[in-house]
Amino acid sequence: MKALVLAGGKGTRLRPLTHTSAKQLVPVANKPVLYYGLEAIRDAGITDVGIVVGDTGHEIRRAVGDGSKFGIDVTYIPQEAPLGLAHCVLIAEEFLAGEPFVMYLGDNFLVGGITDLVDAFRGAGHDAQILLTRVAEPQFYGVAELGPGGEILGLEEKPERPRSDLAIVGVYIFSPAIHEAVRAITPSARGELEITDAVKWLIDDGARVHSHLVSGYWKDTGRLQDMLECNRIVLEQIEPDVKGTVDGLSEITGRVVVERGAVVEGSILRGPIVIGADTKIISSYVGPFTSIGSGCRMEKTEIEYSIVLDDSSVHGVSRIARSLIGRNVEVSSAESMPNTHEFMVGDHSKIRVCS
Ligand code: G1P
Repeated sequence: MKALVLAGGKGTRLRPLTHTSAKQLVPVANKPVLYYGLEAIRDAGITDVGIVVGDTGHEIRRAVGDGSKFGIDVTYIPQEAPLGLAHCVLIAEEFLAGEPFVMYLGDNFLVGGITDLVDAFRGAGHDAQILLTRVAEPQFYGVAELGPGGEILGLEEKPERPRSDLAIVGVYIFSPAIHEAVRAITPSARGELEITDAVKWLIDDGARVHSHLVSGYWKDTGRLQDMLECNRIVLEQIEPDVKGTVDGLSEITGRVVVERGAVVEGSILRGPIVIGADTKIISSYVGPFTSIGSGCRMEKTEIEYSIVLDDSSVHGVSRIARSLIGRNVEVSSAESMPNTHEFMVGDHSKIRVCS
């Protein structure tokens, strides 16, 4: 079995972060979301992995390389334009070489990996397996309608009026039967070859398409709340590990990771949290469900339930919560009168001040 990981697309829903970075590299607990997918694929015993890349291909290549650091062997498949998920299967046909494969959308996060799903597929003789999960806003997903026995009655891509709350998760397993389907379908209203239409074509053609309900799923809907929740779920499972330096005046409780080269002085760290390499936490409080990237500086600051990306600094601000701070950002208190808020904020940013 092979894997096809889709890592193209523009990531408009995750602006402003995706102005400067591929959406698949947005970090969850200080690790790009794409890495979790690659690890899940490897853990399922799959080593031959094709990655479809688009405009941000150079960044993905820089981050993943030849795959050896994950224990996989990566082949890059450039997609000239974002023509749809089924188009990715079309251009990967030679790489897939008639083998069954897992198709994994690089911006999707699935708690618990895919090993059981892959094992079940190997033995079942299905033509395709899709995963479904209950979501609050199914109109932003492919949506499935199931019959009383769990059989798939219908599939629709981002319907205006969804017939159920069962969203199609971006992790599929296909037999080579999918190749005929992706050749047979035509572009959707948004001009893309939809994988949902290809799966529907398989069902109409009498193929055995199996669905499986999962929980613990996250996708980049672009809502801050979703990213914070995904970060929280991952942090809840981390193993405490302090490699950096923590002075005697600091207090650590709960699951806390302090990566190499990080320095913590006179601060309170209350897990689960992760502090990235070479970050300095000085006279500050870092509270539960917070990920702080590498090369950051937090001074005289209180922060909790937040994500801070690499090389950012926060000075003299209390208390920050439910926030996502990008790379190379500076947040500090304005020390002069009058008591004003001063901003220089990039496009598509969102700010909430308490005043
Ligand atoms: C794609 C699929 C959709 C699926 C989703 C999961 O949507 O077209 O059916 O529910 O991935 O991430 P898109 O990436 O266009 O939002």
